[in-house]
Amino acid sequence: MKLPFFLASRFVADETLDGTLPVVDDLLEDDLYVALDLLGEHVTDRAVAAEGRDTYIELLRTLGERFPQGSPEVRISIKLSMMGQMIDHDFCLDNLRQILDVAKDYGIFVRLDMEDSDLTDSTLELFEAVYPDYPDHVGPVLQAMLRRTERDVERMCELGASVRLCKGAYAEPTDIAYQDMDVIRARFIHYMKQLIANGGYAGIATHDDQIIRATRQFVADEGVSTDAFEFQMLYGIRPETQREMARPYNMMVYVPYGTEWMPYFSRRLAERKENVWFILKNFFRR
Ligand code: FDA
Repeated sequence: MKLPFFLASRFVADETLDGTLPVVDDLLEDDLYVALDLLGEHVTDRAVAAEGRDTYIELLRTLGERFPQGSPEVRISIKLSMMGQMIDHDFCLDNLRQILDVAKDYGIFVRLDMEDSDLTDSTLELFEAVYPDYPDHVGPVLQAMLRRTERDVERMCELGASVRLCKGAYAEPTDIAYQDMDVIRARFIHYMKQLIANGGYAGIATHDDQIIRATRQFVADEGVSTDAFEFQMLYGIRPETQREMARPYNMMVYVPYGTEWMPYFSRRLAERKENVWFILKNFFRR
């Protein structure tokens, strides 16, 4: 059974690109940066993966024509599992290269979202395979909850790659992931400092005030330019804070859209019980 879209509409801009572009315009108007994510993941059919690739290429063309050449304010975010990662490495690599060729032509940055830990190795391998050809147009996501992230942060600093750092949205077993929120937060703050001090342009992706405060303190203490990194938040979560922070800092909003919103919506509900209450309240109000 498909749930009605209005339930997800706090977190998902629209089911269509046409309905999403006005949302993008509003965010840009408020000095926010935007990363568009066409929802879809865990594709196991080649034709569906090729369709996903082509839709992303179309999206890049639409954005490239709509916004000035090389505009850093608008980017895209993709999940490699939508591009054939679970079908065949070379097929996915080829799809990714096709996307990056168009992105590079238009000067649009492509972030590779990080999914569950079964896909971490392969995502970072695919990233390293393309990075030398597109160093200014592609970057990975690292998850503070994973124990391996210490090594991955070091590697990305060596490469000088732009990393988005987040806590991690997937339930992972204890042997590979920290479970305690205080520990995850402490790891996040540790990696944030390394990435801002030694890596490429970092995206600090969180709504967590403790981490935001620690980041603000760190950049103030170290005299880091506010243009050397950015904060990132999700569409629909703390929108007033997003706007307030866009003045002193670069603030990017991750804007998902499309009909395949159920897995994304479920992750948002799972990570915060207040989100469930919000949805239930809206449901009964209608
Ligand atoms: P969390 O939900 O843990 O909340 C911690 C604290 O923040 C709360 O106790 C409260 O103080 C404050 N807070 C949170 N929401 C609030 C609200 N609505 N109002 C007031 N206070 C609030 N994950 C992944 O695995 N792979 C990925 O590629 C990405 N990509 C990504 C991009 C971006 C831009 C973001 C922001 C996040 C991701 N994530 C992700 C998701 C991420 O891993 C994580 O699951 C969520 O961001 C939730 O963790 P937070 O650190 O944001 O706060």
